Amino acid sequence: MSGIIQPKVERYLNTLLPARDAVLREMEGYAARHDVPIVGPACGRLLYQLARMIQARRVFELGSAIGYSTAWLARAVGPRGIVFYTDSDPANARRAEGYLRRSGLLGRVRLLKGDALEMLAATEGEFDLIFNDVWKIQYPEVFRRAVPRIRVGGLLITDNVLWSGRVARPAASKDVETRAIQKFNRLIYRSRNLFTTIVPLRDGFAVCQKIRP
Ligand SMILES: C[S@@+](CC[C@H](N)C(=O)[O-])C[C@H]1O[C@@H](n2cnc3c(N)ncnc32)[C@H](O)[C@@H]1O
Repeated sequence: MSGIIQPKVERYLNTLLPARDAVLREMEGYAARHDVPIVGPACGRLLYQLARMIQARRVFELGSAIGYSTAWLARAVGPRGIVFYTDSDPANARRAEGYLRRSGLLGRVRLLKGDALEMLAATEGEFDLIFNDVWKIQYPEVFRRAVPRIRVGGLLITDNVLWSGRVARPAASKDVETRAIQKFNRLIYRSRNLFTTIVPLRDGFAVCQKIRP
């Protein structure tokens, strides 16, 4: 439970979700057993839906772990699309590769191992969608580096922007993660280049559409 939505309502929402295929369910099971903070099926569907709505073909993911959000995005981009997976943990990348191969999605995914923002800088071209799920302290830096890389009409989507509700209270100076997310949220709402809405699903999903170059 996220602590954002009333537990009863969140349980209800989860009962509505259609069953996932065997590999996605296996990833969900692995994540639950090993405390891997994946977006989960409700937000996975939202990623898929938003990517489809803008007909995304070129997607860059910042922080991909075992490839769960990657799998939803890779489905959305279709056989001629590409999703750049990034993670600094090689064990995560190996596990993601296995799952994506078994899902038949590996051909649409470029696996990049190392720092996600460095990989973004090293990858040429514009993106239809950038999904941000790296260390929370990096979020303001993600805003600076990712927005210029998204085409007009494209999306910057960010997980954990409500941070179990902690963003709604003044954060202690040593609580650098909450402070970074609060700063990021101010940046995305104040930006003239973005139109932003935070969807309070799970831990909070920020959906920003780039409206000006
Ligand atoms: C919250 S998990 C990602 C979950 C994934 N997006 C999903 O929903 O399935 C964050 C992951 O990002 C990786 N990570 C965090 N900061 C990173 C960075 N700067 N560069 C590369 N990987 C990073 C961590 O190793 C971790 O596996």
